[in-house]
Amino acid sequence: MVSEIRLFVEPEFQQKAQQYSAVLSSRGVMVNLEIIEKLNTRFLRFHPELALCVDESGLWLCANGMKMQPDWKAEVPRLKRASLKSEMIARACNLGEKPNLIDATAGLGHDSLLMAHLGADVTLVERHPILFTLLEDTKSQAEHDPFLSSVVARIDLIFSDSADYLIQQAEQSNIVDVVYLDPMFPQRDQNQQAIKKQAQVKKQMQLLHMLLPEDGEMDLGDNLLILAQKIAKRVIVKRPRLAVYLASQEPNHQWQGDACRFDAYFQQHLVK
Ligand SMILES: C[S@@+](CC[C@H](N)C(=O)[O-])C[C@H]1O[C@@H](n2cnc3c(N)ncnc32)[C@H](O)[C@@H]1O
Repeated sequence: MVSEIRLFVEPEFQQKAQQYSAVLSSRGVMVNLEIIEKLNTRFLRFHPELALCVDESGLWLCANGMKMQPDWKAEVPRLKRASLKSEMIARACNLGEKPNLIDATAGLGHDSLLMAHLGADVTLVERHPILFTLLEDTKSQAEHDPFLSSVVARIDLIFSDSADYLIQQAEQSNIVDVVYLDPMFPQRDQNQQAIKKQAQVKKQMQLLHMLLPEDGEMDLGDNLLILAQKIAKRVIVKRPRLAVYLASQEPNHQWQGDACRFDAYFQQHLVK
């Protein structure tokens, strides 16, 4: 995991950048702050390695001339189109019942934003310190957005490894309606159809994959399924369409889409 990273900022936002640095350092990331004259596309193209930058819109991850943040405001049109009927994730997670739900693999938080919009009370867990800090920033900005404020009021962010968090919930005998898992899946192992689509993979995902490298340290989340089954009436696992089952466990039910599917594991003994 990245433990040292450069942060580029123009003099105007230096104070803000120092605040982010302090937060990141409390989470184990050493930030090398660099004051630069102009933070623009040209600058980012000349500094292609993975870094952070700060501007009037807050904290960004940047690399290869691109920058990204978990842009929840950009999701608003999609949220407005979404309904319990049209979204497969809504059927899989039974969102019509307004469940309490732990999303144990937060990432950019887009799935959870949709689920909170459709009625779930979401606890969003992310272990990566940089990604978590980006999420925290995005959430606090969304709190001031007229459309998103009521949605994000249903989202709690937790900085933790989900394995630890799920074990803690089990020890406290806390049962939840749903645990949602969307662990990383090695791009090289995805099916042909998914590979063809890679050309269109949004830059957000490209940068996410740079931050969370596949080699050596990628944890595919098998242990999370086992732990989630101890505390959730329903565990939903998002997978590429033709991917192997998580933890080699055959699900009780599946919802199939064009690019991905949802595998469901029901724990009848936890349903009262
Ligand atoms: C594919 S992304 C999830 C994308 C997400 N569903 C979205 O809508 O943006 C997987 C994320 O899960 C996180 N993750 C994987 N294993 C984890 C664990 N044990 N605890 C906490 N976070 C984990 C990774 O750091 C990564 O950010």
